[in-house]
Formats: sequence, C-alpha cells, structure tokens
Amino acid sequence: MTASLDVRTVPTVVYDGQKPGTSGLRKRVKVFQQQHYTENFVQATLDAVSSDKGAKGSTLVVGGDGRYFLQDAIQKIIKIAAANQVAKLIIGRNGILSTPAASNLIRKHQADGGILLTASHNPGGPDNDFGIKFNVANGGPAPEAITDRIYESTKTIKFYRMVAMSDIDLSVIGSKRFGAHHPFEVEIVDSVNDYVALMRQIFDFALIRNFLQEHRENFTVLFDGMHGVTGPYGHALLVEELSLPSSSVMNGVTLPDFGGGHPDPNLTYAHELVARVRSERIAFGAASDGDGDRNMIISHDWFVTPSDSVAIIAAHADCIPYFKITGLRGLARSMPTSAAIDCVAKAKGVSLYEVPTGWKFFGNLMDAGQLSICGEESFGTGSDHIREKDGMWAILAWLNILASVSSQRGCLVSVRDLMREHFAQYGRNYFTRYDYEEVDSAAASQVMDLLQAQLASQQLIGTTQNGFTFAQMDNFCYEDPIDKSVSKNQGLRITFTDASRIIFRLSGTGSQGATIRIYIEKVEPANGQCDSDAQDVLKPLVQLALKISQLTELTGRTEPTVIT
Ligand code: G6P
Ligand code: ZN
Repeated sequence: MTASLDVRTVPTVVYDGQKPGTSGLRKRVKVFQQQHYTENFVQATLDAVSSDKGAKGSTLVVGGDGRYFLQDAIQKIIKIAAANQVAKLIIGRNGILSTPAASNLIRKHQADGGILLTASHNPGGPDNDFGIKFNVANGGPAPEAITDRIYESTKTIKFYRMVAMSDIDLSVIGSKRFGAHHPFEVEIVDSVNDYVALMRQIFDFALIRNFLQEHRENFTVLFDGMHGVTGPYGHALLVEELSLPSSSVMNGVTLPDFGGGHPDPNLTYAHELVARVRSERIAFGAASDGDGDRNMIISHDWFVTPSDSVAIIAAHADCIPYFKITGLRGLARSMPTSAAIDCVAKAKGVSLYEVPTGWKFFGNLMDAGQLSICGEESFGTGSDHIREKDGMWAILAWLNILASVSSQRGCLVSVRDLMREHFAQYGRNYFTRYDYEEVDSAAASQVMDLLQAQLASQQLIGTTQNGFTFAQMDNFCYEDPIDKSVSKNQGLRITFTDASRIIFRLSGTGSQGATIRIYIEKVEPANGQCDSDAQDVLKPLVQLALKISQLTELTGRTEPTVIT
C-alpha cells in the first residue's frame, strides 16, 4: 500500500442545465470539455450515491460505449472517486462496457451502482454528443428521486474533491490499490467475458450452434455493430461461441466517432445493413446501437417491428432455458408500444403492465418479481436478467427461438414464417412511428396544446373520421404498482372503437429543439388481412393524426424526419 492520497479541494462554478434527462446527462462533447463541467457532474453524482454518506466506502462500476471523450472522463472519475473515499471502481478494459454489460457487472459484484458513459444512439466525436448516466444497485437507471438530487447538487456546488495522481493505464486487466488511510482499489476487468457467461446461462448455445451449422446455406446471419460498443460482444457471441464466420459481423470495430455514422438501429440509420440484407438475401439481419441496449431484427423479406419482436419473444419464451426455470412472471410494454404483447399475455394468462416511455419504469416490477419480458417500440427489448434493455440478448433470443422451433418441426422456420404464424394465432397490430425532429419548440407546444384542448372538450369522442370512431382521448398517467409514484403527462392517447390508437408525445431525449413523435397502431384480428404493407394499412390513420393535430400547418413540416 502506498502513501496517503493527495486529496485536493477544487473551487468551481455552477453550470446551468446539468439536469439528467430520460437517460442521464447528454450534451455536446464541447460542453463536457468546459473547465469543471464534467467534474461538477461527477461530484454531484457521487454525492447522490447515498443520501447520508455520498459515495464513501462504495463500489461502483464504470464504463462506456467507446465514444470520444470516454478516456478523459474515466480518468477524471477515478481521481474524483478516490478523493470521495470510494472503496473500489470496477472498470471495463480501455473503459469499454456496453450498457447491458455494465448493468450485469453491477448486479454480479453487488456494487452500489455504476457510472455509464454514453449518449446511447446519438452520434459521437468531438462535435457530437457525450453522456453520463448513473445506475443504482439493482443495475438499472437511477430513479427520478436520485437524478433530482444530482441536479440539485449541481445547482449549488462550490467545490469538488479530486486526488492529484497520474492517469491509470486502463488497458491492463487486474487490480491496483492506492492510499493508506482510505484504501482505494481500481480493478480493470475484461469488457466482454462476464456478459458472455451470462448469455451462456440464459440461452441454449449448443442448440443454436447446431441450427446455424445445419442450415448454413439457407440461414445466413449478418450483425451490424454500427462501430458502436457491441462489435466485440457480437464477435465473441456470434463468431466465437456460435461458430459463425467472422464476416457475419460488420462495422464491428468500436470507433470514437462510430465511423461518422448515427449508431441507431432502425431502417433509416442502419441503411448499410438493410441494403446488404436485401441484396444478399440474408435470412437474419440484426443491429445494435452505440451502447448496445437497442436492437433491430430484419430478414431480406421482413422487418420485425420492435413491438412485434417482444411479442414473439414472449410467445416463445418456453424455448429459452432461462424462462424454463423462472417461468413467465409477467409481461410489459411502454404505452406507445403496440398491444401485440397484450394478446400474448392474455393467451398465457399472465399480467400485462403498460408503463410510460423509459426503461426505468420496468425496474420496480422486475425487482418485485412481477415482470419477466418487456419491450418498447423504440427498439428496446429485454428481460429481468439485468435492469437495462439488451440488444445482444434480443438477437440471441430470436436465434434461440428460430433454432428451437425449427428443430421441433424438423425444418427451417424463417423470420417471416414465424411472424405469419404469430399473426394467424394472435392477429396483427400494424404499427408505425413518425418522428418530426428539431421542430421549433414553440410550434411543437402549439401542436400539443391543440390536442390537449381537444382532450379537454372531448369534442371528438363518438365522431367518425376516415372510417375510425373516436372512443377515448386521454393523457397517459401512470401509478407505479410497487412504489405508488405517479407520472403524469406521458403522452396524448386516442383510442378508437376498433382498438386502433394514435398517440402524440414529445421526445424526452432530443438535444436540439423539440421532437414530435406520432405513434399509429391498427389492430387486425387473426382471421383478417394480416399480410399487407404496414404503411398502406396505416395511411388513413396517419392522415387523421395530421389532420387533428394540424401538424403541417403549425410546424411547417410536410414530411417526417424518420419513419420507423
Ligand atoms: C431512451 C430510453 C428508452 C426510451 C427512449 C425514448 O432510449 O432508454 O427507454 O424508450 O429513450 O426516447 P424519446 O426520445 O421517445 O423520449
Ligand atoms: Zn442505447
């Protein structure tokens, strides 16, 4: 053990706007690079680890998605943590941890929490975004009570504590101990191994491997790491564990600017994957986002909406060893996510929870043992194995299900076959989302105000437009069944008599102007037309949504920025 740590108290100035959003503090890198800016927020975060003793004596996991500024941020965190008498930091090698891997490490080591350095799917690089997010001891994002505490600290901070020490080499696995009076340990761990071990426990890798081998001519796989954090995880799982050729992983090298791309797995931003899957007639295409918690599943002849994806996983949960042991404790989705999973919950006789947008709302239900599988339309799918959504998990779940169903039938069952069979049993929830990004904030408010006025007057209820009769209009409000906390104003929801829905919401994650999201869903019963083009089917509802919101008139936007 070395001599005492040289703790300095550094006077600082308050920065406005360090309010963590849906998923931590996300700002431009240049904002984080301002003198004291990152230090202030890290100090405020450490103060919030425990309400009485701050981070003293705690163990924290630290890692991020490889984006620009990650190394600088980690070196600052190490020095500030040491000065705040943190007992131990567990850091991914070279600072790298996917968000699901970090959640797993927090749980595995029974740590007090974790600091995740990511702006998720937002572009990276010196001119783009960075982010700092605090997760608590269950491995999930900090609840609002804690993020509010962090924000309050940032508004009054006068100094932060920092140890004068040289940077730590993050590339060498192993433990280093510092300080005599308050021992401080930094352990660098492999970024991938523990996560792979977890996946090995959950899924039937031997079955998947045999399936991939047996159908290697017809069942080709292509995974797009989008130069985010999941490349190494994808390689370890798909190539090393499941014996696929290394060409099955594209854009697999993690880059600080994600190769200049926008690492968000949807039809717009994962266009390189989509084009290859179509032109090479790939049977199973998948992608994950910058920090590895989102996913997209496609085949050359089908795009699986995230709402359908979670319904499929829930419907076939008994193919997955983990759920054979735990059983299905309950299913959940965010409010705007289609009700496809509701049909599965009903058929299986398990509870279905509808929560506001944001993964954090699933955590309490999981901790209480009431929720096994959940998902969001925003390309998030996951289960209670950790407390974050999990991109690679979703991809492996699909492979496990396809392998299992194919082996039971003695023939190859494709993505499209599985979808068709699902629709034939449960019906189809046609779904699309229109995003209008960087809308003038005042215009966006006008749109929401207009809808709110229609809600207040209830003037539309009972009327029929474009063939749809308005049944209900409300603003989604959620009471958490476990802690009874109430979240209001979570999205304007219109339900029609045939169970179709239109939902309007302002995004909580954008960094410029406002983003208006319109979610459209039409329910088709099992004996109905379940094989049509979603955009064709949903067109009348889209037109109706634009008409009642006057979106074009109020914002000047004639086309959405992204359609998913
Ligand atoms: C993040 C959260 C998701 C949530 C999404 C919503 O990705 O982790 O749980 O669904 O944000 O974003 P929005 O922009 O619609 O508020
Ligand atoms: Zn993400």
